[in-house]
Amino acid sequence: MDKAQILIASNRGPASFSTAADGSLEFRRGGGGLVSGMSSVATEIDGLWVCAALSDADRRAAAEAPGARLDRAHDLDGMRVHMLDIPEETLAGAYTEVANSTLWFVQHMMYDTPNKPSFGSDFRRKWEDYSAYNNAFAEALVSGAADNARVAVQDYHLTLVPRILRTRRPDLRIAHFSHTPWAAPEYFRMLPTQVARELLEGMLGADRLGFLSPRWAESFLRCCAEVLNADVDLERGTVEHGGRVVEVGVHALGADEEGLRQSASEPAVAERRRMLTGLVGETKLIVRVDRTELSKNIVRGLEAYRELLRAHPEWRGRVTHLAFAYPSRGDVPEYRAYTESVSRTAKEINEEFATPGWTPVVLEVNDDYPRSLASFQLADVLLVNPIRDGMNLVAKEGPVLSERDSVLVLSREAGAADELGRDALLVNPYDTVETAEALHEALTMPEAERRRRRKRLAEAAVALPPRRWFQDQLRSLG
Ligand code: G6P
Repeated sequence: MDKAQILIASNRGPASFSTAADGSLEFRRGGGGLVSGMSSVATEIDGLWVCAALSDADRRAAAEAPGARLDRAHDLDGMRVHMLDIPEETLAGAYTEVANSTLWFVQHMMYDTPNKPSFGSDFRRKWEDYSAYNNAFAEALVSGAADNARVAVQDYHLTLVPRILRTRRPDLRIAHFSHTPWAAPEYFRMLPTQVARELLEGMLGADRLGFLSPRWAESFLRCCAEVLNADVDLERGTVEHGGRVVEVGVHALGADEEGLRQSASEPAVAERRRMLTGLVGETKLIVRVDRTELSKNIVRGLEAYRELLRAHPEWRGRVTHLAFAYPSRGDVPEYRAYTESVSRTAKEINEEFATPGWTPVVLEVNDDYPRSLASFQLADVLLVNPIRDGMNLVAKEGPVLSERDSVLVLSREAGAADELGRDALLVNPYDTVETAEALHEALTMPEAERRRRRKRLAEAAVALPPRRWFQDQLRSLG
């Protein structure tokens, strides 16, 4: 029997490239739930992943691969990958301006609203880029899809694709999955009305829409009711609009236990572990691992730590905060400013409290995956305090690898709080005093309780591995 054809459309592909010092292309495998989910079924399906070239090196790799098919030039575990070379200006408008600087800000409710956003004619032009970008993906999918194939479109970059596909290829079964939170209508309707409508109607071209948490699914449904006046059933999770009924489902995503343990057993992790142990000595360890992303709330995390050292001086000299904040979206000005603010706050804390033998905060900004895994093993406390987050896999991966029964201090605004809330210490991410008290409680928690909680956290974290998450979505598409 022929294998079922599954197409993925995602802004970022399963691999990316950079240019090495000698001018050659360096190939890098991506991570995350989608890559693990898709690669875990790659040999069982006829899969095609359509993505965009996001850098000059990606562009070169796409141009050098026959038919822009990366799998013909690189080992991608049996996945077929088509990397689109979108004109640079269109990419900048669609990806940097609309997806990252607007839709991401809306869904994470990150605007400083007295000043931003302001949707002028410039934004309308960027929205044209976004449409062109979505059309380029749709075109590749239309020509790559066999009859009745299933297509899984990902995230806020590609909200218009389902509707274009439905018009051009009614035979396809189409899913769209949002990896972000979804804003309440009061916030979402900040977008120009026509844009808000196009976006929702674009997504409603799918047969089924997926979200990571019931909270995000409900917000989406409420947006459809309010912006489109659609007939929404909150109980059943359906939207009726334009004569069609679209299902809205929830698929939480868990950690990939097997993959994690395998990566954690690499010699590089043991080496980083020795290095970190030397660095922190006998002190207790509070760890955080994030991209330097505004929604991750790193500055308030640091402020909470400062509050802990002020309110509980007994911890001075006895605790170290390892904060890993890896570079992200440097082409967005707010991210550059935020990166500076993270460094400044860490520096201020060290200036206030450091002693000759003790550095209160160790901030590392260069991405080092083995070091992140080693820090999960060694952490006494894991701090995950985003202002909003679709899921947050750090909150799930940490407890799986923890060897010291780390206590999880977790923002109630992360999707992961749905499943981990009972055994984590939940905090309001805006409240640095409450977060500081949670850190104190975590540091002083009796061993038996830490062990009990950590065990349950790890169990909940791996309950929905990426393979199952991915297969469930495909199955529910019929
Ligand atoms: C989130 C989004 C993904 C995105 C990732 C990294 O997890 O849901 O779609 O790929 O962030 O973002 P970036 O655009 O910097 O690759």
